[in-house]
Amino acid sequence: MEHLPDDNSRYKDIDYWDERYKTEQCFDWLGSFSKFQHLLEKHVHKEDSILILGCGNSSMSGDMYSAGYRSITNVDYSSVCVQHDEGQAQRPPGMTWHQMDMRQLSFPDESFDVILEKATLDAIMVEEKTSWEVSPQAAVFFHQALTQVS
Ligand SMILES: C[S@@+](CC[C@H](N)C(=O)[O-])C[C@H]1O[C@@H](n2cnc3c(N)ncnc32)[C@H](O)[C@@H]1O
Repeated sequence: MEHLPDDNSRYKDIDYWDERYKTEQCFDWLGSFSKFQHLLEKHVHKEDSILILGCGNSSMSGDMYSAGYRSITNVDYSSVCVQHDEGQAQRPPGMTWHQMDMRQLSFPDESFDVILEKATLDAIMVEEKTSWEVSPQAAVFFHQALTQVS
């Protein structure tokens, strides 16, 4: 519970994530690769070019690489997270990390076959009362992020 914020709204702040990633080595929100493996095997091909949005310090992309997925691009807007992940994983060929906001991706169009996010959009929803009627700020965020995905 060391990294629990005082208030849930902190999950929307880059400062919170930067601070957290200074000391936390690895944490998997919602579950790790094994929980989602059956879905990935069904929908994602090993040769697909994969983008992971808001990768955090999750073991997901490393475990996917071990399972045979060979082209994985990780982005997170926390520079601390991205530097940390680069060092840890010793950059296997085909895996890259970039400090980037998911609302403004700088990859050429059609760079990826598959885009994954796990608990990243959830972090933007922390102050919302219902997922069916979000605030104007959240709606703008989702519109920007999903336009990039599209
Ligand atoms: C709840 S964590 C999930 C981390 C990881 N995906 C997992 O499953 O364990 C949310 C992550 O999204 C990142 N994030 C939040 N807003 C972002 C944005 N606008 N662009 C890129 N990353 C963002 C945070 O830095 C954090 O690493």
